[in-house]
Amino acid sequence: MSAPRGEFTSRFGFLMAASGSAVGLGNIWGFPTNAASNGGAAFLFTYLILAFALAYPALMAELIIGRHARANAVTALKSISSGRGSTMLAVFIGFSGIITVSLILSFYAIVSGWMMAFFLDPIARLIGLDGFSQWLTEDAVLRNSIFVVLFMMLTVVIISAGVKDGIEKWASRLMPSLVIILVLLIIYVLTLPGAMDGLRAYLVPDFSRIADPGLLVDAMGQAFFSLSLGVGTMLIYGSYIGKDENLPTVGSLVALLDVGIAVLAGMLILPAMYVALGNGVEIYDAAGGLIAGPRLIVSVLPALFNTMGFMGIFVALAFFSLMTIASLTSSISMLEVPVAYGVEYHGTERRTAAAVIGAAITLIALIIVFNFDLLFDLVVTYTTEKSQPLLGFAFCIFVGWIWSRNDILAEIKQGCSGAESGLFWRIWPFYVKFICPVAILVVYFQ
Ligand code: PHE
Repeated sequence: MSAPRGEFTSRFGFLMAASGSAVGLGNIWGFPTNAASNGGAAFLFTYLILAFALAYPALMAELIIGRHARANAVTALKSISSGRGSTMLAVFIGFSGIITVSLILSFYAIVSGWMMAFFLDPIARLIGLDGFSQWLTEDAVLRNSIFVVLFMMLTVVIISAGVKDGIEKWASRLMPSLVIILVLLIIYVLTLPGAMDGLRAYLVPDFSRIADPGLLVDAMGQAFFSLSLGVGTMLIYGSYIGKDENLPTVGSLVALLDVGIAVLAGMLILPAMYVALGNGVEIYDAAGGLIAGPRLIVSVLPALFNTMGFMGIFVALAFFSLMTIASLTSSISMLEVPVAYGVEYHGTERRTAAAVIGAAITLIALIIVFNFDLLFDLVVTYTTEKSQPLLGFAFCIFVGWIWSRNDILAEIKQGCSGAESGLFWRIWPFYVKFICPVAILVVYFQ
């Protein structure tokens, strides 16, 4: 073992880091468009239930394992295993998490690179660099490659600086800025004509959709991706929480922040789409649904900003800075998972581990950029729809069936002395043992 482990210096620092991980592209464009295409508030309602009933217990499982073991995913899962079988499973699950999160980062960096390019575009236009502006907003392998590399360099620089001087410092600066920008943008967009139609599409429930199995699957996938579950991110952040911290409380605060910001983002994106419709921008796809996915962010919204005249430049700047911040506070949490493993398991120096692993992930991202049509959707589907829920399932099995109940309680009691008689301990153990694994499997095989 090399240098001593890092630790978050305050509750605020942890909350900003963990909510920074959770709040990302998944909240700001995944959630609103999922809601729009799944019956508005009916989706919101299902999402809220699943987030608190299924994702929050799984989040707690990772935080508790992490803080108990004070180690990377592989070491942590091994430390709570008992026999040979469960130890082998621990190594397998830990590594699967590391590989999955690295692959998630490789596609996430591509999309985040687009966000950076679109963030620079209004600046280029302001200073009259029209050719550069066009280059920034046109989808091309060269542009995508350059921005993948830039975005990964930012991520590596922050992770190299460590838990306190890298993750905590930057999350504590960026997350409050994100909330301020988001709120200002919502206020502005809601004053524009057509915005109320968007708000209606978002907040008026179409309850006929609630029995739709597709809605359930989407809501669960969204909740797991959004809370960064299954891949060891929350485990590693949990491992940097002080022993005097109340885990059930900080865990619920993270879940509340994540869900709250997703709900707020819906109040920006959907009204913005309907404003765009009023300004003559196409917002429906060929099948008649609202345009979602990459096209929404890189074509519908920029087209809307272009119809807003001079003001549009500042709105674009604010919006894409919001997206870049959201991406960066998530990407650092992803890179921390393999880096912590490299540092602790192999005694590699943090800077070296961050640079080498960052370079490897950048290389994978570039391979995807060069074979975009073939690989992009494949990697997204494999990691977020197949791997993440199964790993979330495995974490529940570890906490519910493999790790001893007394050890779990002892861990929670540090920082929460009355835990034994509290509501959390009365409900959660049963939940992670039975309800979560079964529910995850049922939804998974839908
Ligand atoms: N939660 C992030 C988002 O919503 C994505 C993420 C997934 C981050 C897995 C870390 C690990 O965009």
